[in-house]
Amino acid sequence: MMNKKLFLLLCLAVHFVHAQKKQPFLWGVATAAYQVDGNYQVDGKGESKWDFLTNKVGITQFTIGEKQTGNVAINMYDRKQYLKDIELMKELGINAYRMSLDWSRIIPDGVGAVNEKALAHYDQLFDDLLAAGIEPLVTIYHFDYPAVLLQKGGWGNPEMENWYYNYASVVINRFGKKIKNFITFNEPYIEFFLVENMLNAQNNKLPEKEYYMSQMQKAHRQLIANARVIKLYHDLKLKGQIGIVLNVNPAAPWDEKKVADQKAADFQDVLINGLFLDPLYKGKYPKVALDSLAKYNPSFKPSTEEMAFIGANKPDFLGINFYAPAIVKGEDSAMSLKWLDNNPDEVKSNVGPVRPEYLYKMLMRLKNDYGNPRVIITENGTGFVSEDVKVNGKINDPLRTDYIKRHVEWALKAKKEGVNLFGYTVWSGWDNFEWVSGYTKRLGLIYVDFATQERTPKQSFYEYQKIIKENRSF
Ligand code: FCB
Repeated sequence: MMNKKLFLLLCLAVHFVHAQKKQPFLWGVATAAYQVDGNYQVDGKGESKWDFLTNKVGITQFTIGEKQTGNVAINMYDRKQYLKDIELMKELGINAYRMSLDWSRIIPDGVGAVNEKALAHYDQLFDDLLAAGIEPLVTIYHFDYPAVLLQKGGWGNPEMENWYYNYASVVINRFGKKIKNFITFNEPYIEFFLVENMLNAQNNKLPEKEYYMSQMQKAHRQLIANARVIKLYHDLKLKGQIGIVLNVNPAAPWDEKKVADQKAADFQDVLINGLFLDPLYKGKYPKVALDSLAKYNPSFKPSTEEMAFIGANKPDFLGINFYAPAIVKGEDSAMSLKWLDNNPDEVKSNVGPVRPEYLYKMLMRLKNDYGNPRVIITENGTGFVSEDVKVNGKINDPLRTDYIKRHVEWALKAKKEGVNLFGYTVWSGWDNFEWVSGYTKRLGLIYVDFATQERTPKQSFYEYQKIIKENRSF
């Protein structure tokens, strides 16, 4: 018989080996192709939806009164530039970088020939990142796609599901062995119910409520495409994981004592979060949401087979983008994500009220109501116009620093309480092109001079560096 001491020693050794093997917690920063890459006509890239919106429709002219585009952005497609940026990532101490691929570079006309130059570029970028000890988290689709497909109706065209599947297959077949973490889509809610709605308002096509609801078919199509690509990935038996990213916005009542506000908050919560979490994890849409949608869009009737297919092909992990809860008033009975601020004393952030405890609440909800999936925080961050200014060559941003610290604290508390959290990435590493807000909103840890491309790490960069050091082996 083995003596007790020897047995204990053996247990310890086994435990040690396991601990070594365990994937380290991922600490990272995030970007998306259109917001950072620039070089919009380099290496055979085709025109994308956002190239079209910014250059030809003038979306930022409509929203911020000035024409701004991502044609140059922060020049990250350029290898000389991104190698410098990788040096900054190393200095920051991150071991993960969330980035997105540009469909209009890989298949310029959406469905036809594959552009080898673009694939070679990404291959090189992945090698450069991996050589620096940084794991790429690759978003296959982040709001943007070839403009020719937009002209064919985009997600309004049933064929879009096949076009996306074809594009995603090219990506997975080419990079499936090198990349360990894929993301199918980023924030369907924001793409369809917020950004596209702005475009609709600009073109004055449909009454607001009707428009919101007609978007549901598009979101549903995306969920089916998501399930098809997850299935493909699993069938290929690749040794990584594939997930989807949702914006989670817990809804809080404007006035807790008002029944109408509370009711509206509960309703919004179903529309914003349940609408995507339930199909993904329970294979069905929440009844309240379907009933509400039926009022405006009676033609939206997902089939039992579709729902079963979505439910049967669950993501391996859920990426959550959390900025702020939606604060809701009684009269907000339609679909209407708003980041109202009910604290008059608070300095206004670019992304809504600062309420880190809601991140914790959301994480606990995923654990308790959705079967404790593997979760990574794929975006979290903020910006305050007042502090994103260079003074004597330095950017002191204590409000951003405080925001990040508090969100990390609440996230780690949830992890300690059993949430299956495996990473955290800040939006964003760099100031960049903020969609309809152009360059007017800075959310980076690194300040970018948009005219010269000069980078200057902000105070929050050094604070995040400390957080990572302290929690490296969390
Ligand atoms: C999210 C987007 C991301 C960035 C942040 C601020 O909705 O996914 O690209 O713009 O907002």
